[in-house]
Amino acid sequence: MRAYYYDNVPGDQRLPHDYSPSRPVSQETLKALNVEHWVIPVDGHLPKIDAIAKEKGYKNRDMINVSKEGMGEIYEEKIKTFFQEHMHEDEEIRYILSGTGFFDVRETPTDEWIRLAVEPGDLIVIPPGIYHRFTLDEANKIQAMRLFQDEPKWIPYNRSKETDMNPHRIDYLKRVGVGA
Ligand SMILES: [Fe+2]
Repeated sequence: MRAYYYDNVPGDQRLPHDYSPSRPVSQETLKALNVEHWVIPVDGHLPKIDAIAKEKGYKNRDMINVSKEGMGEIYEEKIKTFFQEHMHEDEEIRYILSGTGFFDVRETPTDEWIRLAVEPGDLIVIPPGIYHRFTLDEANKIQAMRLFQDEPKWIPYNRSKETDMNPHRIDYLKRVGVGA
């Protein structure tokens, strides 16, 4: 996984949006935002995923497949929805099995977008309360495992003044040391 600041240049969300020269983001910066990341090679991944799932209490999992071929007409509309800036009240945990895509997470307090270019073998945990969004890249396909504890609370709360007051948002800001 490569992490870098998003250039904010208008245009297709599926383009890399990398500054020239690129502005890379370190593991420490991601850690400070409570974004966790592991690399687990897809070949023989199951025992390692099981071990992390056990340690973190992720009892359930399912698979998602997002592709232009598979979704046809609704694809363009769907990926625009994924790209709306939002947060959840639960962790968003994804293990990439094939394909590629971009998770964008908001850095605080700078409010800059950090782009995470994920590929097969990446396991990422996006913490509750962080503003983020997702898009596929120009290859237009990704297959991922979603892990979760119990009933997943994946309701997206779009960024707004009201969402800024969500207790999970406030907790997140406290955890990363920018909340009161
Ligand atoms: Fe999300």
